[in-house]
Amino acid sequence: MSKVAVVTGGSRGIGRGIVLELARLGYRIAIHSRTGGVAAEEAARLAREAGAPEVVTFEADLAEIDAGVALAEAVFLTFGRCDVWVNNAGIAPQVRADLLEMTPESWDTVLATNLRGPFFLSQYVARRMMEIRDGSSAAQHHHVAGTDRTRSASGHIVFVTSVSSELASVARGEYCVSKAGLSMVAHLFAARLADEGIVVTEIRPGIIATDMTAGVREKYDRLMEAGLVPQRRWGTPEDVGRAVAAIARGDLDFSTGAVIHVDGGLTLGRL
Ligand SMILES: NC(=O)c1ccc[n+]([C@@H]2O[C@H](COP(=O)([O-])OP(=O)(O)OC[C@H]3O[C@@H](n4cnc5c(N)ncnc54)[C@H](OP(=O)(O)O)[C@@H]3O)[C@@H](O)[C@H]2O)c1
Repeated sequence: MSKVAVVTGGSRGIGRGIVLELARLGYRIAIHSRTGGVAAEEAARLAREAGAPEVVTFEADLAEIDAGVALAEAVFLTFGRCDVWVNNAGIAPQVRADLLEMTPESWDTVLATNLRGPFFLSQYVARRMMEIRDGSSAAQHHHVAGTDRTRSASGHIVFVTSVSSELASVARGEYCVSKAGLSMVAHLFAARLADEGIVVTEIRPGIIATDMTAGVREKYDRLMEAGLVPQRRWGTPEDVGRAVAAIARGDLDFSTGAVIHVDGGLTLGRL
């Protein structure tokens, strides 16, 4: 049976780009989104065309911890396993308000969706991956110290954070805080799961052309023209998808905790 990947927020934008690269690798795929609908169906159709042998769509509002756990339960029930779990779903603040005007409501919404939800969802997913690993075959996974360790990971968890983990945007401080927190969540899970055969990776995208950035396209066009991004172009969902594909292929299995920048050099220190 081919391997299974789950992409939260997989219906549109970066998530869809990740779905399509994993489909090309032959993964069976769960496409999650909050609302489903036409976008999710279109992503599913494209994933099948790209080579995914089975595609199922799921809806859940991941700002709610219970809804996240129910999503994971449904996925494990449907496929019986999960090899790659990609925490991609996320939101920008509804209003770009100056730091001195930001409201507690916006703080709560953004942090619940981008940080609190993915933390508790990943906690549940990690426990289920470990249960399945332990149940599947003691012979396949020699969980003892020394030379017997299996070389391939028994699971991957990916967190899609942002350059906003490290770059301050004073008109969307709650987003920056949520992503900085999510970077530490990735770091924590990498540390906790390193000895469990589960590889944890953070993908830190820069400025990517999706619905989320549609409202600031001209502003960033101008900034890119002026050299903001050393590689002088917008990132694409495919750029991020290809980084996740490298993880899913196992190419980075001795690099747990790695932070992969997909930002065209935006965060390169320069003088
Ligand atoms: N675009 C960028 O420049 C950029 C840069 C760095 C990092 N990122 C991060 O990359 C991820 C994807 O961004 P994107 O630009 O692809 O966003 P997008 O085009 O707005 O798509 C967001 C996806 O997340 C889902 N989603 C949003 N809120 C949700 C919730 N409460 N519960 C469940 N699913 C929810 C959406 O589902 P519905 O459509 O059903 O609402 C959709 O599938 C986000 O975490 C974002 O912070 C983006």
